[in-house]
Amino acid sequence: MSLQGAAGPEELIFYVNGRKIIEKNADPEQMLLSYLRKRLRLTGTKYGCGGGGCGACTVMISTYEPALKKIRHYSANACLLPICSLYGAAVTTVEGVGSTKTRVHPVQERLAKCHGSQCGFCTPGMVMSIYTLLRNHPEPTSEQMIAALAGNLCRCTGYRPILDACKTFCKESICCQRKTNEKCCLDQEDDPFDKEEKVSTRLFSTDEFQPLDPTQELIFPPELMRMAENEPKRTLFFHGERMTWISPVSFDELLDLKAAYPKAPLLVGNTSVGPEMKFRGVFHPIVIAPARIPDLNMVKCTDDGLTLGAACSLSLVKDILTNAMAEFPEEKTKVFSAVLQQLRTLGGEQIRNIASLGGNIISRKSTSDLNPILAASNCMLNLASRGRKRQIPLSDIFADGVGNNTVTPEEILVSVHIPHSRKGEYVSAFRQAPRRENALPVTNAGMRVLFEEGTDTIKDLSIFYGGAVSTTVCAKQTCRTLIGRHWNKQMLDEACRLVLKEIALPGSDNGEKVDYKKTLIVSFFYRFFLEVSQSLKTMDPCHYPGIPMEYRSVLQDFKTKMPQSIQIYQDTELSQSPQDPVGRPIMHQSGIKHATGEAVYVDDLPSVDGELFLAVVTSSRAHAKIVSIDTSEALKGPGVFDIVTAQDVPATNEFYYSDDPEIIFARNKVICVGQIVCAVVADSDDHAKQAAAKVKIGYEVLEPVILTIEEAIQHNSFFEPKRKLEQGNVDQAFETVDNIIEGEIHIGGQEHFYIETQSVLVVPKGEDNEMDVYVSTQHPAIIQEMVAASLGVPANRIMCHVKRVGGAFGGKLLKAGLLASVAAVAANKTSRAVRLILSRGDDMLITGGRHPFIGKYKVGFMNDGRIRAVDAKYYINGGCTPDESVLVAEVSLLKMDNAYKIPNLRCWAYACKTNLPSNTAFRGFGFPQSALVTETWITGVADKIGLSPEKIREINMYKENEQTHFKQKLDPQNLIRCWNECMEKSAYYSRKTAVNEFNIQNHWKKKGIAIVPMKFPFGLGTRYLSQAAALVHIYTDGSVLLTHGGIEMGQGIHTKMIQVASRELNIPMSCIHFCETSTTTVPNACASVGSAGTDVNGMAVKDACQTLLKRLQPIINKNPKGTWNDWIKEAFEQSVSLSATGYFRGYNENMDWEKGEGQPFTYFLYGAACSEIEINCLTGDHKNLRTDIVMDIGCSINPAVDIGQIEGAFVQGIGLYTMEELKYSPEGVLCTRGPDQYKIPAVCDIPEQLSVSLLSSSQNPYAIYASKGIGEAGLFLGCSVFFALRDAITRVRNERGLKKTFALNSPLTAEQIRASCADDFTEMMANNESASSTPQTTSV
Ligand SMILES: Cc1cc2nc3c(=O)[nH]c(=O)nc-3n(C[C@H](O)[C@H](O)[C@H](O)COP(=O)(O)OP(=O)(O)OC[C@H]3O[C@@H](n4cnc5c(N)ncnc54)[C@H](O)[C@@H]3O)c2cc1C
Ligand code: FES
Ligand code: FES
Repeated sequence: MSLQGAAGPEELIFYVNGRKIIEKNADPEQMLLSYLRKRLRLTGTKYGCGGGGCGACTVMISTYEPALKKIRHYSANACLLPICSLYGAAVTTVEGVGSTKTRVHPVQERLAKCHGSQCGFCTPGMVMSIYTLLRNHPEPTSEQMIAALAGNLCRCTGYRPILDACKTFCKESICCQRKTNEKCCLDQEDDPFDKEEKVSTRLFSTDEFQPLDPTQELIFPPELMRMAENEPKRTLFFHGERMTWISPVSFDELLDLKAAYPKAPLLVGNTSVGPEMKFRGVFHPIVIAPARIPDLNMVKCTDDGLTLGAACSLSLVKDILTNAMAEFPEEKTKVFSAVLQQLRTLGGEQIRNIASLGGNIISRKSTSDLNPILAASNCMLNLASRGRKRQIPLSDIFADGVGNNTVTPEEILVSVHIPHSRKGEYVSAFRQAPRRENALPVTNAGMRVLFEEGTDTIKDLSIFYGGAVSTTVCAKQTCRTLIGRHWNKQMLDEACRLVLKEIALPGSDNGEKVDYKKTLIVSFFYRFFLEVSQSLKTMDPCHYPGIPMEYRSVLQDFKTKMPQSIQIYQDTELSQSPQDPVGRPIMHQSGIKHATGEAVYVDDLPSVDGELFLAVVTSSRAHAKIVSIDTSEALKGPGVFDIVTAQDVPATNEFYYSDDPEIIFARNKVICVGQIVCAVVADSDDHAKQAAAKVKIGYEVLEPVILTIEEAIQHNSFFEPKRKLEQGNVDQAFETVDNIIEGEIHIGGQEHFYIETQSVLVVPKGEDNEMDVYVSTQHPAIIQEMVAASLGVPANRIMCHVKRVGGAFGGKLLKAGLLASVAAVAANKTSRAVRLILSRGDDMLITGGRHPFIGKYKVGFMNDGRIRAVDAKYYINGGCTPDESVLVAEVSLLKMDNAYKIPNLRCWAYACKTNLPSNTAFRGFGFPQSALVTETWITGVADKIGLSPEKIREINMYKENEQTHFKQKLDPQNLIRCWNECMEKSAYYSRKTAVNEFNIQNHWKKKGIAIVPMKFPFGLGTRYLSQAAALVHIYTDGSVLLTHGGIEMGQGIHTKMIQVASRELNIPMSCIHFCETSTTTVPNACASVGSAGTDVNGMAVKDACQTLLKRLQPIINKNPKGTWNDWIKEAFEQSVSLSATGYFRGYNENMDWEKGEGQPFTYFLYGAACSEIEINCLTGDHKNLRTDIVMDIGCSINPAVDIGQIEGAFVQGIGLYTMEELKYSPEGVLCTRGPDQYKIPAVCDIPEQLSVSLLSSSQNPYAIYASKGIGEAGLFLGCSVFFALRDAITRVRNERGLKKTFALNSPLTAEQIRASCADDFTEMMANNESASSTPQTTSV
């Protein structure tokens, strides 16, 4: 078959938000996301990862099925949808759902009003997932709602407020079950917890919500219906710049095409081919899209099972199997049930909606969740090629152990036959993934056993594993050997031994340790053994005893439930004017715009005439001399305009903020993988990226290559200065203590994973070297300074603008400055506007994150639990440039005491200089690591003397007015209040008893509970870093324009500042507008960091407003009954200036490191968190059951925003301490470069019950309106989950008589939990020779 003759341009017809689109030049390489954003200028749909992993790009697709006369609505990731796949479809984006110009949809309204958006970048995706669900189920169940959000990530909110909004649409009410006083959270009435204080639990009022009216939705375009029904179907051809798309309509044609182009993939969902092309450089000149062919969409019910077309989506398969479960007797549906089990957690809903059954089977030979269970269940594949049809068992595909025989390139998988199960047959599927939902498995399995009738004698056995090696594998020998054996303990022992021998695991390529996979392999079989044993008992209780009671709970997998939550805060005084918004839970000022997609981020700015796109070229070596840069091939690429290197930097390429420089472009050598060497500018993002991939850099490797902290110590490679703090007499104290423990903990780094990647648009203004820089940063002043210095122009030529930032968490400071400089140098060279939007992979590779950390400690204590002496050393992996590593090390020292008084203390901190990308600020700034070390030795002390950790915490907690280890005074009253309140609210002791009970009754599942206190010092160490300014204009119509130096990155600072201005000027918030933060309005603003934004800018705003009010006072006095507008008009007529700046000099903070004393902090926040978890000892999986947080944050200016910060930070902390794992290759290449490899918490990870209480009656004389800065503190409380896990592991180990002390590192992943719950299975690994293979990743 030839493409000639069929080459005429085809029109692609589809609809977007009710508007017909006719695309004459549809390019098969173009995804819907870029088409919407760049072509249609619908920028509400966001880019977060490009690989289907984050859900930021979620849209709704609607198609019409003429045979069924049914419209199907489903959510999908626009980043993976080729536009060519949309022929005849209707797309709805967030703009089509509702807008402030037309009507805000109830989903948008409720998400905003329930405070479900912070930075707002994930919000349109959330809206679309919820909206699509409601289109299909206007009154969904909470399970449906939770499932709909499994594919959407949010890095800010911790999901609770999003789920609050969701609950308002659900059929059943989800009650908090806190029946104190017979009231519950859904009553949305004031909470009765605290009788003395007037407290509230009402963060929003459902009375304000518009009802959901399904009749108001956009209808499916009638024209598309007509097209589907009447238009004769014909083959579609779309020719792009490099690729041709062929969509045949007949089966024969498909076979011809596949015969003619055997290498061309059959593209259905593009969820496998798409990521391969984007991220692994695979290219296909021709793709064949078979989705319209009826044979591939068939659903046939036969006597012995179901036959499903290979192009059926996984969602459709799920629905069909669910229906079949209801239709057939249980005996026949065991295979269906096992397949469904896997489908529930496979990908997110967006993925399942488009990914096909055939695609999963054919493409995912190792990590397919379906292949092991389908193969074990004897599923058959119906294959066809020109002139040949055949049926083979799926298991045949994997027979050769490499998974690539049997199906020939010309062959098409037409359909899959899934058989009924038979009498005496048992089928199960298992999986363990780094995150329970939306994560590829580490290992999975499908198992089936058939017994001789009425016996437990094995007649047939089938065991398949996935994820273990490069393909799905069958434990064939094992199965064969066990035929004829009874289902008993002897069989189990032999099976485990055989299976381990048979499934030979090489070193794995994605970093999971081989031991873990092997443990899972046997643990899964054991779980199958238990399940079947129990089923045999049900069949014949007289013959088969089943399994012990305490083993049964492990047969239930953890399920995600709609969480229950409660938030408690102190209400405003009754005497406070109703117009005064301070202290009230005001919605984020951009909330509605977040939800409608109207909020503008850098990449949403319209393109500037002649604009160029920039793609960076980064180093692939950790330490090497650059021998050559060959740009010749790249320059020949289509649309390429220029290539920019260090030679093009007019002035500063290296910035010396300390001894070692921060570098824009590598000049002669590279010092980490991911360092920017040069950049390509082209007419489109794709062209720039394609050309960047063609730049060839020659290297000569330099020694040494230092990657890990240990290597840095070995090579004495540190950033200076090293810091030390000492108090008391440590050596003497060690001589007098009863006990000493020594230990070490390794805390892995953390990726910021702000959902908006680093973005900058530089626009040269054409005269006087002026440039506008629109950038996603927390620190516009440093961007201005670095851009000006790199170009050699005064700072007054560089205007830096920040409207809002899609999350930052410390990651958009210096790194954003370097990237802005790259773009500015390119703009300067080309005299064109330049846009640089980092891809998720580049962002993760280049920009560093939280510092990996090693804490070594020696602790001396008495038998009664009093800690007398601590000697600690902290090493942080700073990476290749200083950034703020020394400061992070300092802060880790200053905050290491957490909540404890340690009379004799010596601690050191070292910032290691390595050949990794430079690490930087991250929420908490060293505290989350050093305080985790402290809490670790607290539990070590408890273990040693047999007291509980909470007792040791209480004994050593600051108790009265005391001094820290650097002689700063503190009053710990509120620390103790938080602790006591948290104890009480969590009902700690009674729950601990319940946990003990549970653990006695359950062998393979265990619970753990822990309560952790927190003292979080607030301050930036020096006065000048906390100065702030504001500028307030009043216009003659009375409206007010407010600006200040703070950056809106989700923490609601502008909302709070408007609240402040509203109170000060005594006008409604609606009269006050905030436009942008800019270096043109507020110069030299300090970075928005260290939880200080509201504190310092609030003071400046207050100052400016008071200045204005002072000027207005004579006019007001003269006309006290006048209105605001009267006074303003009068003031203007009297020539009174209506514009004022406000200023705050900063806090008087200082630290003398020579003396080791000072006042680096202004005040302290306090808190406590109690968490309870449950673990599955066989897999290492865990579930967060409940967390209670009590926080002292002074008088909250906005409880909704502040509670949002606490919860969001807490969930980020859960990520840091239990899930998020960065993996580097031994060569220093970051392997985890996207949401597919790096797992941040998703909806399934938040506690089933979550309560946050703000401590009442707390005053803070140092900050605006007695509030406290809250952005960072909550993150550390995530470690209560870490210690609850530790508690559960301890109980397992105690029960099994294992040695008392054991070390746990962070993150405490499933792998580590499993390894720590040592048992016969882990023992087998220890005895297994092949277990000690070389790790493929390096712990840095
Ligand atoms: C974010 C994300 C999360 C995921 N999570 C999981 C998970 O948890 N578990 C899991 O198992 N999988 C997971 N996947 C993988 C996903 O299930 C598969 O990519 C998907 O099923 C492939 O189907 P597709 O239609 O998209 O394939 P496509 O990408 O369209 O095609 C894939 C390949 O299959 C071939 N192919 C497709 N149909 C046929 C046919 N009928 N005959 C012959 N060859 C055919 C094509 O030629 C092509 O080579 C995930 C994928 C993504 C992107
Ligand atoms: S951008 Fe599409 S899923 Fe992340
Ligand atoms: S609000 Fe969800 S990512 Fe920021």
